Amino acid sequence: MKLVVTLALLHLCLSATAAVSGGGSNETVITAAPGDVAILPCFTVGNVTPSLTTWMKNGEVIIRGGGSPPDSAPVGQRLAVLHDGSLNIKEVTPGDEGSYLCNSTLPGNRTFQTGVLLQVTSGPENVSMSIGPATTLSNGTLTTYRGSTVSFNCSGSSYPAQQLTWAFRGDLFNNDSLVSANGSLLEFKIEDIQPSAQGLYSCRARNIVSHQAVNKSTQLLVYYVPNRHPDCMWTLMQDPSHIQFNCSWLGAYPTPLLRWHANQAGQGDHIYVSRLTDNLSLTLNRSQLFKGQMLKCTAQHRTIPPGKEKSCWMTLESPYPQGDPLVTALEGTSITLTCTETTSKPPANTTWRKGLKQDEIIPGSKYILSRQGADFKLTITNVSKDDEGVYFCRSENPLSITELEVFLTVKNSSVNTGVVIGIFIAVLIAGAAVVVAKTVYSSRHQICLGGGFGQVGDDRGDVLNLVESDDEQVFQDSVPRLPPITNGHHTTLVQIHRIPSSDHEETETADTSPEQQEDTIQAEEPEDLVSF
Ligand SMILES: *[C@@H]1O[C@H](CO)[C@@H](O)[C@H](O)[C@H]1NC(C)=O
Ligand SMILES: *[C@@H]1O[C@H](CO)[C@@H](O)[C@H](O)[C@H]1NC(C)=O
Ligand SMILES: *[C@@H]1O[C@H](CO)[C@@H](O)[C@H](O)[C@H]1NC(C)=O
Ligand SMILES: *[C@@H]1O[C@H](CO)[C@@H](O)[C@H](O)[C@H]1NC(C)=O
Ligand SMILES: *[C@@H]1O[C@H](CO)[C@@H](O)[C@H](O)[C@H]1NC(C)=O
Ligand SMILES: *[C@@H]1O[C@H](CO)[C@@H](O)[C@H](O)[C@H]1NC(C)=O
Ligand SMILES: *[C@@H]1O[C@H](CO)[C@@H](O)[C@H](O)[C@H]1NC(C)=O
Ligand SMILES: *[C@@H]1O[C@H](CO)[C@@H](O)[C@H](O)[C@H]1NC(C)=O
Ligand SMILES: *[C@@H]1O[C@H](CO)[C@@H](O)[C@H](O)[C@H]1NC(C)=O
Ligand SMILES: *[C@@H]1O[C@H](CO)[C@@H](O)[C@H](O)[C@H]1NC(C)=O
Ligand SMILES: *[C@@H]1O[C@H](CO)[C@@H](O)[C@H](O)[C@H]1NC(C)=O
Ligand SMILES: *[C@@H]1O[C@H](CO)[C@@H](O)[C@H](O)[C@H]1NC(C)=O
Repeated sequence: MKLVVTLALLHLCLSATAAVSGGGSNETVITAAPGDVAILPCFTVGNVTPSLTTWMKNGEVIIRGGGSPPDSAPVGQRLAVLHDGSLNIKEVTPGDEGSYLCNSTLPGNRTFQTGVLLQVTSGPENVSMSIGPATTLSNGTLTTYRGSTVSFNCSGSSYPAQQLTWAFRGDLFNNDSLVSANGSLLEFKIEDIQPSAQGLYSCRARNIVSHQAVNKSTQLLVYYVPNRHPDCMWTLMQDPSHIQFNCSWLGAYPTPLLRWHANQAGQGDHIYVSRLTDNLSLTLNRSQLFKGQMLKCTAQHRTIPPGKEKSCWMTLESPYPQGDPLVTALEGTSITLTCTETTSKPPANTTWRKGLKQDEIIPGSKYILSRQGADFKLTITNVSKDDEGVYFCRSENPLSITELEVFLTVKNSSVNTGVVIGIFIAVLIAGAAVVVAKTVYSSRHQICLGGGFGQVGDDRGDVLNLVESDDEQVFQDSVPRLPPITNGHHTTLVQIHRIPSSDHEETETADTSPEQQEDTIQAEEPEDLVSF
């Protein structure tokens, strides 16, 4: 089988080289592989049979033969002169290559010489490549990680010699000869490999004599992940009871697996959504949210070993507006109610409302709404008795609605009349005292004139204490109340909290400590930077 193939090949070589020869030398070139049968032609013109043929190699006679002896070579001999003078080499071996000369004597005492160049070549054979360190995918594609040092080896064997060349075909550029050398092994390295080095690597082995070439190629993928953790974000939606969470982790290859999940008490890890993507959004409504819930986005990637996934998370907190629950204003003046919302996560929509029906306050010349950071202010201009009553600072976030109740007391100018009356009474008493004193001793005098009697009616503390004693029930904690009437299925839990003024200082400090959380958006430290 092999013989047939090589003979056919040989014939090809002959016809090919017949034309080529003559470039200075009219030698015939014959290429054969070890093991082949090679026939070196001598006199090929007509069917004249030479009477004697001498074959010389590199100037030395190697065989002589005539026309009369049998054509076949004697058993055990590799070389034979055929009846037409051709030299038959039964089994070519490395070393048979060289310049052969045929000297034939033709009938009529004519002599004839011809030269034949025999090339013995083999290969390239057993061409193999190895690229490492790399992981082989099921389809044979290799993968490595960005930053690795990857070595590329190519080997093969050829007789008498071969040229090895590494070629590259990538998305950004191609290079038909990254590196090239003669030898049996060609090695090169790419240090700190980058995604641009991803592509098809080919090793070509080319026999320097026969120019026969063998290609081996393989695809190499360069995987990478960003050093960052994923980014967790929330987007408030048109419907305030819904919220959208986005997680994005751009710059990973191949596409990572992102997962939105939460650790729910007693239920373990609950996965909301999980997909192969670099950005994943999740929409939840109020019934799926609760205070203190930690929503976490975890990115999984081939380059990250299990347990070392990168993640980001957000902790949800209900709104909790805080402020002075009791405010007193003097008729005709302006008063500003202030409410501070710092706990809500995600940020709440904080609005001021008026009256038990919680009518929304429409800003205008009467009401001025303003905001300074976390402070929401309502300024009521030209306060009148009608403005007295309850106001609500209402904070709504996707988790819940919490309200701060503020009671506004309006004092009219008649207080001044009271002051006048008070002073008048005091004068009367003083006068009486003077009369009494005159009748008794002059030394009692001073005791009866006890200073600030007249200021009693004007004392703010007194008014505050009065209202406070009304309210001094257990309103320290928020009181759940169902809202009046919205739509039937909209059962929102509204929390109203009032802070008794005597406890105010305490409550405020008590409030801030548990509610104040460290930053919601946190990041796991990238413990493992994938680098190989
Ligand atoms: C060829 O052979 C003849 C006689 O056999 C001889 O005279 C001649 O010198 C030979 N030629 C060469 C180049 O060897
Ligand atoms: C051929 O040449 C040789 C010497 O070169 C000579 O001896 C011989 O007689 C010749 N034969 C013929 C037939 O001419
Ligand atoms: C080969 O060429 C040489 C000179 O270039 C010539 O003398 C010789 O006869 C040629 N031989 C053949 C077989 O053509
Ligand atoms: C090629 O490999 C085969 C088997 O692996 C081996 O038998 C043969 O000798 C090798 N050929 C060369 C030229 O190294
Ligand atoms: C490449 O060849 C060198 C030297 O033989 C060897 O040290 C290295 O491990 C080889 N690399 C691969 C990927 O086969
Ligand atoms: C092999 O699989 C990888 C990942 O599945 C793919 O990116 C690559 O194109 C595949 N290679 C070939 C040659 O099909
Ligand atoms: C191919 O790679 C070699 C070696 O890195 C470099 O010298 C040559 O400029 C490159 N050629 C192209 C066309 O990129
Ligand atoms: C390899 O060998 C060939 C033939 O000897 C030569 O032309 C080529 O320049 C060599 N290449 C290298 C890289 O040494
Ligand atoms: C072998 O690789 C070389 C260089 O990449 C290319 O030019 C040639 O066409 C390839 N040959 C085969 C048979 O694939
Ligand atoms: C969240 O993702 C959605 C859909 O991809 C997009 O419309 C929205 O703008 C994203 N929000 C943020 C804050 O990135
Ligand atoms: C998020 O991913 C989707 C596909 O999963 C894509 O269509 C969209 O453009 C991406 N959005 C951003 C902001 O990257
Ligand atoms: C806040 O809520 C009110 C209704 O209570 C609504 O009109 C307003 O658009 C909301 N503001 C934002 C920023 O969502």
